[in-house]
Amino acid sequence: MAAAGYTNPLRDARDRRIPRVPDPCALVVFGVTGDLARKKLLPAVYDLANRGLLPPGFALLGFSRRDWGDADFSQLAMESAQKGARTPWRDGVWERLAASIRFVPGAFDDDEAFDTLQQTLIELEDSHGIHGNAAFYLSIPPPAFPTVLKQMQRTGLADSGDRGWRRVVVEKPFGHDLASSRDLNQLVDSVFTADDVFRIDHYLGKETVQNLLAMRFANTLFEPIWNANFVDSVQITMAEDVGIGSRAGFYDGAGAARDVLQNHLLQLLALTAMEEPVSFDADSLRIEKVKVLGAISLPSDLHAYAVRGQYEAGWLAGERAIGYLEESDVPADSTTETYAAVRLGVETRRWGGVPFYLRTGKRLPRRVTEIAVTFKRAPHLPFPVTDTQELGRNQLVVRVQPDEGVTMRFGSKVPGTAMEVRDVSMDFLYGEAFTESSPEAYERLILDVLLGDATLFPRNLEVEASWRVLDPLEAFWVGSQPERYRAGTWGPAGSDAMLRRDGRAWRRP
Ligand code: BG6
Repeated sequence: MAAAGYTNPLRDARDRRIPRVPDPCALVVFGVTGDLARKKLLPAVYDLANRGLLPPGFALLGFSRRDWGDADFSQLAMESAQKGARTPWRDGVWERLAASIRFVPGAFDDDEAFDTLQQTLIELEDSHGIHGNAAFYLSIPPPAFPTVLKQMQRTGLADSGDRGWRRVVVEKPFGHDLASSRDLNQLVDSVFTADDVFRIDHYLGKETVQNLLAMRFANTLFEPIWNANFVDSVQITMAEDVGIGSRAGFYDGAGAARDVLQNHLLQLLALTAMEEPVSFDADSLRIEKVKVLGAISLPSDLHAYAVRGQYEAGWLAGERAIGYLEESDVPADSTTETYAAVRLGVETRRWGGVPFYLRTGKRLPRRVTEIAVTFKRAPHLPFPVTDTQELGRNQLVVRVQPDEGVTMRFGSKVPGTAMEVRDVSMDFLYGEAFTESSPEAYERLILDVLLGDATLFPRNLEVEASWRVLDPLEAFWVGSQPERYRAGTWGPAGSDAMLRRDGRAWRRP
């Protein structure tokens, strides 16, 4: 029985086991024939439809320069979904989705095409009951942003009037330095209100990344030791075995630090190091992330603690891999880095003095993303030194991908008469603990856009705080040659030297 005067705040709350379905709406994808749309966005829309998470009144609109009709786009969407979807193929689901598909051909500076898009959305209000709600996904090269946003302003596409909501989804890169990211933020904010802007960092859509928050703040076990008193250091790794493929146009001149360190790695750092938010709504979470990103410091000695590398030809999984300079469309004298590593500090009472080592690279031996928190040694061991020779430090490793899960390493007694202590591992594996399979990051994030839930989307201040970390690093690297490393190895020797200098070593995941 409730105590007098006490109301249970949970009683009227929505049953969170029942998935929310968005309002009737349209999803408009600019650049729908591009790589991202084909590989990730269109399969994710199909998966959402398959899981019954799209509203009954729904329309999928593609916009691109191709001289196509609805049927061509529908064909592309079907092929993309069949190839890339996570959930099984169902003809019925596809047929319902296909009936909602429209295509508007046009260039981004083509006024008429944007008028047609506006007109199509109005028609879909009657035919598909989308109630004037629309999300616009800018899956386009950044130089095209201003033109498209201005077109949306001119035609009134960005303005929901009193009909419903209008939202915009912006893909990274959010600029290439602090100044350009500010310009971009200003531009987007001049067309859409801040709450209607969704910046995608797809790492935040990954289940394991969200689990970091669950682990830290839903348990009593970790938080008391999650600080400089107990933590020795943190390593955040995002390694890829692939090269740059056909992305030279975007990648060359940008490099690994701008491509993933500025966003994915710093977001992982923010979630690892931030304080507990007062709640899990978008504002509370973003406030804490901005605070911690603003507290990041670069080492004063960048020569010793920042390393960039570029892959040369080598061998990976028994196959020969070409070097970066031999990739198509890469200039033979390119100095773009495909590997970046840096030691950062977080200047707060919680983290003062704890190094955060970040690294990312392409053509490394395997694809793995993980956050490894290494703890300090016990101040005293009451065992003979000879019995603890094989005892390392306690470590907690959050495996973001693959083999999603968490590993804890601690010392344990070796069976026998002596008190010999050696490291053992305890594993939590998503695949074994849960029967539900994890949604793809884009599936989750597109759904959140349609639901208007901005929790997993970085806000402009976070993006700017991240560039404040990157800008001095990029400035330091200007005009320098990246160190070469052979494809299939763990990166340049300088990176190992960087940790050795601190008496540590990179993990070999
Ligand atoms: C993207 C980068 O943001 O993330 C790519 O631009 C990188 O260079 C990709 O390959 C990796 O994503 P994931 O989800 O496969 O780890």
